[in-house]
Amino acid sequence: MRLALGTPIAFVIHPELRNAPSSRPADLMLDEACLLAEAIGLEVVHAEVVALAKLRAGSYFGKGVTERLADLTEDFMSSHDAPVIIINTTLSPVQQRNLETQIKAKVIDRTQLILEIFGARAQTHAGRLQVELAALSFQRSRLVRSWTHLERQRGGSGFLGGPGERQIELDRRMLMDRVIRIKAELKEVTRTRTLQRSNRLRSETPTLALIGYTNAGKSTLFNRLTGAGVLSKDMLFATLDPTMRELDFASGRKAVLADTVGFISQLPTELIEAFKSTLEEVVHADVMLHVHDASSPQVAEEAADVIKVLGDLGMDTETQAARIIHVLNKADLLEPDDEQIASLQNMFPSGVFVSAATGDGVDDLMAHLDRHLGKSAILVTVDVPPIDGAARAWLHQNAMVKSSHFDERGHEQILVSIDPANHARLCARWPDLAILNTVS
Ligand code: GTP
Repeated sequence: MRLALGTPIAFVIHPELRNAPSSRPADLMLDEACLLAEAIGLEVVHAEVVALAKLRAGSYFGKGVTERLADLTEDFMSSHDAPVIIINTTLSPVQQRNLETQIKAKVIDRTQLILEIFGARAQTHAGRLQVELAALSFQRSRLVRSWTHLERQRGGSGFLGGPGERQIELDRRMLMDRVIRIKAELKEVTRTRTLQRSNRLRSETPTLALIGYTNAGKSTLFNRLTGAGVLSKDMLFATLDPTMRELDFASGRKAVLADTVGFISQLPTELIEAFKSTLEEVVHADVMLHVHDASSPQVAEEAADVIKVLGDLGMDTETQAARIIHVLNKADLLEPDDEQIASLQNMFPSGVFVSAATGDGVDDLMAHLDRHLGKSAILVTVDVPPIDGAARAWLHQNAMVKSSHFDERGHEQILVSIDPANHARLCARWPDLAILNTVS
């Protein structure tokens, strides 16, 4: 095997407990863990599912497995740098330490791997703060660890390799202080976002949020819908910070579309907690576009994971059902007679098939969204006297103007489709305006 000099290497191990198998096939869980490792630039040179009869409290695996992994590592190290051993489960600090001693290599578990990825991906100040908070909360509950291996390989760009390393020197008290400071800064971020949200509310621009399992194609769809150049890669969690763009519908309706962080199974609780302010965009969105990778054999499980995270964010199933539109993406990867199509239609009866990559179905999706947003709108004719230029401008901004003509008095008769909330606002703001022919 030839590896580029300095390429960071990983062995990925997915443990499968025989008496408590997970809902997903072990080989797919292993593939996903390998993708996660690759997401931070690790080259996976060995990946295996280890079936376990029972779990050991001290070192998770039995002696046979750890000895074999130690031999494998030693062999590998005779000609290469030391690998990181990724165990795709949650390890206790004791198990992790014992495994490191026995295998004689750095061991990280799934939570730490995801924290690493998030650390490397966070772009904005708020994103970095959230990851740092997650990592600190995680470290507070464990022994502070050394991340020299990843630090060296990545040139210190990721959070855990850099600031995380410094934490070794910090005592608990300083860790706490930092947590408090970050929380205060994040509060400020949340306040600004709330303010932006309330401005949007005031102007009644509906917000749509893209949600979905990581790699479902949210960023690709975001770009397709808005023409924005958001990073989209076959790389898990390419998007960490919420990105927003205006979305224009053919009918003239406008909305704000937010791309958000990808969800994943067993998302560490520290991360859900830390990313709450990002995820609030989701919680407050008028409509959530749940993007699925329609070609994934695990589509049902992935959807269940997303729903679970929404539940963790305090969104009950009824609210979810009322606000979610299912988007079945990557339809270009399905054959017309694919059994998956029928099963998807069964799972998501009103789901819209699209291909964000080719653009197929995207017009249908836009029309579907437009109809959805206009569902509660009412039709009214507003009689606007010449002096009420402000009301005219307001209507053009906050309602959909269907037609208009001037009567013999020089009043403009504007027929609009308007949301009930804006209708109430119109009546309150211009109580003297005659609003005619209200048709529901
Ligand atoms: P996270 O940031 O991890 O949450 O990912 P995401 O959901 O934003 O996915 P992204 O848009 O980055 O797409 C993931 C991969 O799927 C990329 O390689 C895309 O090119 C690919 N992809 C997205 N949409 C489609 C599609 O409609 N068809 C096909 N064939 N590939 C797609």
